Amino acid sequence: MKLEIAGAEASQLAARFGTPVYVYDQNRLEERMRQFRQVFSSPLFDCHVAYASKAFCCLAMMQLVQREGLWADAVSGGELYTAMKAGFDMNHILFHGNSKTDAELEMALEAGVGTIVVDNLAEAGRLAFLSTGHPGSRTRTLLRINPGVEAHTHAYIVTADIDSKFGISITRSQEIIETCRILDEAPNLDFAGFHAHIGSQIFEPEAFAAEIYKVTAFTKEFQDHTGLQISCLDLGGGFAARYTDKDSCPPVETVCRRILEAMTEAVKRHGLSVRELIIEPGRSIAAEAGWTLYTVGSIKDTEHRRYVFVDGGMNDNLRPALYQAEYEAVLADRMDEEKSETVTVAGKCCESGDIILRDGRLQPARPGDILAVASTGAYGQSMASNYNKLPVPGTLFVKDGQARWVIRPQDLEDLIRNEEPLPEES
Ligand code: LLP
Repeated sequence: MKLEIAGAEASQLAARFGTPVYVYDQNRLEERMRQFRQVFSSPLFDCHVAYASKAFCCLAMMQLVQREGLWADAVSGGELYTAMKAGFDMNHILFHGNSKTDAELEMALEAGVGTIVVDNLAEAGRLAFLSTGHPGSRTRTLLRINPGVEAHTHAYIVTADIDSKFGISITRSQEIIETCRILDEAPNLDFAGFHAHIGSQIFEPEAFAAEIYKVTAFTKEFQDHTGLQISCLDLGGGFAARYTDKDSCPPVETVCRRILEAMTEAVKRHGLSVRELIIEPGRSIAAEAGWTLYTVGSIKDTEHRRYVFVDGGMNDNLRPALYQAEYEAVLADRMDEEKSETVTVAGKCCESGDIILRDGRLQPARPGDILAVASTGAYGQSMASNYNKLPVPGTLFVKDGQARWVIRPQDLEDLIRNEEPLPEES
């Protein structure tokens, strides 16, 4: 048995396009987006699924997101630019970031971005000022608050502790009120509500319910105190994806149902005027649709380990080095064989932490085998680097057996494209 991705044999893709290479099952991406749209809907709320483009962002992906009727979240001028070039409806963009520059805010205002998610008091002031340069426009704003709910996840990617750099903690209600007043009073801005994001790779639907109860209770107090009406709540992303057998992710439907149930209950209980709900899944849309294909080079035994070396590494997948993230791998043409060996798949970077799979099970590998790592579709390509002057691999979309480049591989020339040599010594 051979590994197939969206109807194409992985080893044939490797032979035709080279390795390392990122391969996305386009059918699976589309299905996932449709599924989110379907299950995140309610007669009580206007529901929007905004794809967090940081997970994987390129023209083709943004086109797909748009085609499937999702909104998108962008966190930099670069992500915004990619969405613009993909023809994305700017009204359906949420522009995020804790440290947006004036140039980025200008770019967002100029482009007609639908919603800007403001992070802090100082930014609200800057945005209010910059927006006066766009008379006649009205940009909707949300304020990112930190409800202090910590979803259980790896420490590096928890964003909701009280001293998090993101948003304003609900313990600082005066500051939140002051910020919202600025946004509300700015002639070209519309203040619509709050945004919160409690972490990543959240397995427990109750974590979202806890977030909702905290945010809605705060909203009620806020409304009573200020008289400002909150019409929109954005609950952020964090929906889990499956990387290995250890990850048992609740179905998207279960999580969305719990979110809508908790919202319905909370809105009733507090008599809120919230009419619009947004979620921002990134990982759970992109991760499982993506594979990375490598070619096995040397195999080396040490006292306690068998290393299987591959032709990529931490420059194309930083997650194991940065978060001790775990993956599963297979030899693409030898799926029939038992995973009878415990090996460490290591990359070619000059760094001991350059490991793709630590002490994982694999079929007995031989040089030249195609090794496929599963679930690399989120935060793989998007966090790639040129460390050790390695070119970033290209990205393929495969749909119904047909493969095409959506990002061409970098070549050696690309690596020095922006470099300037010193002038010759005279
Ligand atoms: N919305 C906001 C405001 C976020 O900060 C994030 C992720 C998301 C949505 C999407 O979260 P997701 O659904 O993808 O979990 N590089 C790390 C993940 C960092 C996530 C940061 N924020 C990783 O590779 O695990």
